[in-house]
Parts: sequence; C-alpha cells; structure tokens
Amino acid sequence: MVHLSFSRVMETLRSNRKLRFVLATAVILLLLGIICAIFFGTWVRLFIDHELVLRPGSMTFEWWARPPVRPFVRVYVYNVTNADEFLNNGSKPILDELGPYVYSEEWEKVNITDNENGTLSFHYRRTYTFQPELSAGPDDDAVVVPNIPMLSATSQSKHAARFLRLAMASIMDILKIKPFVEVSVGQLLWGYEDPLLKLAKDVVPKEQKLPYEEFGLFYGKNGTSPDVVTMFTGAADMAKYGIFERYNMRDKLPHWSTEQCNSIAGSDGSIFPPHITRNDTLAVYDKDLCRLLPLKYLRDVESAAGVEGYRFTPPEDVFAADEHNKCFCPAGPPCAPSGLFNVSLCQYDSPIMLSFPHFYLADPSLLEAVEGISPPVAEDHRLFIDVQPEMGIAMRARARIQINLAVSQVVDIKQVANFPDIVFPILWFEEGIDELPDQVTSLLRLATKAPPIARAALAWGLSALGALLILLAVTCLIRSSHRQSTLRLEGHAVAKPPPAKTPSKENGYELNSRR
Ligand SMILES: *[C@@H]1O[C@H](CO)[C@@H](O)[C@H](O)[C@H]1NC(C)=O
Ligand SMILES: *[C@@H]1O[C@H](CO)[C@@H](O)[C@H](O)[C@H]1NC(C)=O
Ligand SMILES: *[C@@H]1O[C@H](CO)[C@@H](O)[C@H](O)[C@H]1NC(C)=O
Ligand SMILES: *[C@@H]1O[C@H](CO)[C@@H](O)[C@H](O)[C@H]1NC(C)=O
Ligand SMILES: *[C@@H]1O[C@H](CO)[C@@H](O)[C@H](O)[C@H]1NC(C)=O
Ligand SMILES: *[C@@H]1O[C@H](CO)[C@@H](O)[C@H](O)[C@H]1NC(C)=O
Ligand SMILES: *[C@@H]1O[C@H](CO)[C@@H](O)[C@H](O)[C@H]1NC(C)=O
Repeated sequence: MVHLSFSRVMETLRSNRKLRFVLATAVILLLLGIICAIFFGTWVRLFIDHELVLRPGSMTFEWWARPPVRPFVRVYVYNVTNADEFLNNGSKPILDELGPYVYSEEWEKVNITDNENGTLSFHYRRTYTFQPELSAGPDDDAVVVPNIPMLSATSQSKHAARFLRLAMASIMDILKIKPFVEVSVGQLLWGYEDPLLKLAKDVVPKEQKLPYEEFGLFYGKNGTSPDVVTMFTGAADMAKYGIFERYNMRDKLPHWSTEQCNSIAGSDGSIFPPHITRNDTLAVYDKDLCRLLPLKYLRDVESAAGVEGYRFTPPEDVFAADEHNKCFCPAGPPCAPSGLFNVSLCQYDSPIMLSFPHFYLADPSLLEAVEGISPPVAEDHRLFIDVQPEMGIAMRARARIQINLAVSQVVDIKQVANFPDIVFPILWFEEGIDELPDQVTSLLRLATKAPPIARAALAWGLSALGALLILLAVTCLIRSSHRQSTLRLEGHAVAKPPPAKTPSKENGYELNSRR
C-alpha cells in the first residue's frame, strides 16, 4: 500500500464511475456545509428584516398597530406636609412620597396612512384606566402640591416690568390664588380647572393663548393625540426601522442651538432598528422630553420567559451640565444644574425641569434642598429598556421621569414673596411593560434559539456527511488501487480474493449508467 502512486490512484478513479460520483457528492456536501456555516447568519438576518418591515397586513404590522402588551404607568406624588411652615418660617419643604397610583394603558395607532415611500403616518391613541387594586390608594386622594400655573406665571414675570408684577399680585389676591393647591391625584394628572389659566384664556390675545383652561400634568394624554407622526417602516432602510421621520410635520425640533440636539431621529422605545450590538447607542424620542434620549448598553439580561436580551440605559452624563449639553441651554448661561433638563421651551415657557426619580444622577444639593425623599437607588430609579437584540423589540421597559418646578423668588408678588429659589419636585412616574405576551415571547425565543441550532445542525450535518463519504470513497479507492497493484505485481494466483460483490456491482453500475 505504501507503494501506491498518485497516478495509479488517478487511474483507478478514472476507471471507477461510482467512486467518482461518491467523491463529487462528498465534496459538494462539504462545500454546502461550509457555505451554511458562513452565510446562514446573513440569511437569517435577511429573513428577519423581511418579516419585520411594517407592511400593512403583515403580522408585525398588526402587532405594531395594536401592541398585544399590557403597559402601565405608576405615579408617585410628593405630598407637601408643611406648606405653611415652608412659606412662613423658611423651613425646608417636607415631602411625603405617596403611591404608586397605577394606571393600565392601551396603546394603539390610528388613522394609519401608508405614504408609499417607506414611511407611515399615524396618530397615537393611549387609553388610561385607573387600577385601584394595584394602587396605594384611590386616585381621589387629596394631595398638597405647588400651584404650578401660578408659580410659572410669577417665575416668568421675574424679568417683566414691576407694575406688571404688582398687577399680577392684585389679580391673584382677587382670585384667592395660593402658592400651594390641594387637589386629588387624579386632578393633578388629568386636569382641574385653574382660575389663572381660565383668565388667561379670556384676556390674552388669541395668538399667545394657551391651548387649555385646565391644568394637569398628563392633561390631554388620555385619548387620541392630535399629533401626526411619520415613522420609517424599514422597507427602504432597515437602519431607520421604527425611527421618527416627522413629528407634527416637523423633521427636527426648533428649540435648540445645534442640528444634532434638534434631531428627532429616535424611536418611541417599543421597537428599534434590528441587529443591535452592545456597542450601539439607541435613541428614543419623546415629545414631552423635548429631545432625543440616548441609551447605552448596561448588561445582559434574561426575561422571565427566558428570552435573552440587552439592557440599555441613558449614559450617566445625559443631563450633565457639561459641554455636550450646552446646545440645550440656548438662553444660558446660567443653565440648569447638573441632572436636570429644562423643558421650558416645550411647555409653554413654564419652568418645568425633568430629572430622574429621587434626583438620580443629579447634583446632590437638589436632594438636600428638600426633606422626605430617600437617596436614589439605581435599580429603582434608573430608566431602562431591555431589548431583544436580533429583532430590536423592547421586552421590558421602565421609562422613569421626575417632574420638577424651578421656582424663582419674586419679592414684588406678596403671595410668593417668601417662596425661595428652589427646584421643587412634584411627582415621578414610571411607564413601561413587564413582559411581552406568550405568543410574542415564544416567537422571540424561537427566533433567537432556532437559527444557531439550525445553522450548527446544517453545517455540521452536511460537513460530517461529506467527510464520511470522502472517507468511504478514499477507503474504496485505496483498496481497489491496492488490489490492482497487487494483481499486477503478483498475478491472479496470490491476489487477495476481492470482495465478491464489488465487480458485479461496478459492472451493473456501468451498465446502468450507460443506458
Ligand atoms: C397630604 O398632606 C396633607 C397635609 O399637608 C394631608 O392633609 C393629606 O392627608 C395628605 N394626603 C395623603 C393622601 O396622605
Ligand atoms: C415658626 O418658627 C417659630 C420659631 O422659630 C415657631 O415659634 C413657630 O411655631 C413656627 N411656625 C410654624 C407655623 O411652625
Ligand atoms: C386621517 O388621515 C387623513 C390623511 O392624513 C386625514 O385627511 C384625516 O382627516 C384623518 N382622520 C382623522 C380622524 O384624523
Ligand atoms: C414620504 O411621504 C410623506 C407624505 O407625503 C412625507 O411627509 C415624507 O416626508 C416622505 N418621506 C420621505 C423619506 O420621502
Ligand atoms: C380615559 O378615557 C376613557 C374613555 O375615553 C375613560 O373611560 C377613562 O376613564 C379615562 N381615564 C382617565 C384616567 O381619565
Ligand atoms: C466595540 O467598541 C470597542 C471599543 O470602541 C471595540 O474595541 C470593539 O471592537 C467594538 N465591538 C464591536 C462588535 O463593534
Ligand atoms: C430654562 O429655559 C428657559 C428658556 O430657554 C430659560 O428662559 C430659563 O432661564 C431656563 N431656566 C434655567 C433655570 O436655566
């Protein structure tokens, strides 16, 4: 066998069609296995992309238009327990965090128009229902909170003419407006009639009018939003899947000083461009946040149903008072303290400042200015979204935001003369989803677990089969070459008896194939 020469092997191969066929099949199988190993991932990507595109009528579209999820919003209100002392004795406000007051939500997109250019236009419709059994109390619990319309008006009048401030003081006197109001939680959220807003509606010229005469922090959010939203479907470019193209006809915000800060190129947080890596920065746009919120990878997570994903959260310097946030302070300096985001320009100039709950990631002096708020804990007060990276679907989310009022002291208005400069926390809320429904979860599990298994099975299966066939063919080849050489060297007499069947089968094959 050692003497087998290459030419002899080739000769055997030439004379043996069956072996040739087996060898060719083996090589093809091996190649297929290798191709599978290399390109299977790409095929899966293409398949996922194809399935994800929001085409009217597809399953993804139905899920997007009427998400089969049970979102909720939990509200925690800071009840002021020492309003009189705070105003008269200059003590720190003592706050009592009440809650949660839980509302279940139903999300829907209505009046969806396919623009035929890779975008869809629609309106959001959100319906909120109070859940008394999940809440700490009924939503008609009375709470004492700063009078936001009044303190907005007084803070804004800081730079106005003095006589205007005096006029304001007498109007507030007549209307008996006080710096703190006692309202129910439901009123604070969904709206109560405010005498100042009512007055403004009657006297202010039409162009400058506030759109409402009621005041509520979630006012107008229950129901169909009047905003027309245009979103990329992914049909033209998967990298823009779920990203807003326009919000209310605008393709960027008008408020900030740079193009980048004015961008609205983010998603609503429920879907993201697929194939997310740990290095990616996701972006969420929210109208009330008034900017894009960047999200960075925090850690790997596994949902309760066993789907693996990545947790994304805003970087720690997202609201920092630093160079890269300068564009959000067009009127400054001075700018908002670190950890606060000034949304005044998006909120009819009222001095509303957003932060994370309990002033998480904010200047510690903000927390020290009040009593009754526990120090922030990342796990409880951080905003995060868990995404399934291949599909870009949010599996679990907590959008946590605290609403604060930045009050400026105005001594000419006697009602608020003793109200110091302070960032007054009003409430915080978390909006989110806990778990996707089973039908979506099982699909996600399949989509993540099946492709690697299928790829391994196909690649290894084909390669192993190929290798086995090659081994078989080579063994046959060597044996038959060896037989031939033995025949030639030693003649018929000493030749090892060949396997009885081989020649006849060979002949049969030759005959068959000649036919
Ligand atoms: C909120 O605080 C006020 C006192 O300032 C108190 O009368 C009221 O009962 C508190 N509300 C709740 C729901 O505890
Ligand atoms: C204000 O402080 C004074 C003394 O510091 C105290 O006597 C008074 O009771 C306080 N007023 C209130 C409303 O607590
Ligand atoms: C639905 O959209 C179309 C086109 O954008 C618009 O003309 C129509 O007024 C909308 N209907 C509602 C109820 O918003
Ligand atoms: C697609 O069409 C809509 C409606 O005509 C338009 O608002 C939008 O800007 C277009 N988008 C692109 C990317 O062309
Ligand atoms: C929201 O609106 C629906 C009907 O439009 C109503 O049943 C529900 O009570 C409202 N929710 C709140 C919190 O006001
Ligand atoms: C992620 O970023 C790091 C540092 O910027 C880089 O070294 C790494 O190669 C990146 N990984 C991927 C998958 O892009
Ligand atoms: C918030 O923004 C408004 C509008 O740009 C500005 O007038 C105000 O001074 C800002 N407030 C703070 C505390 O920076």
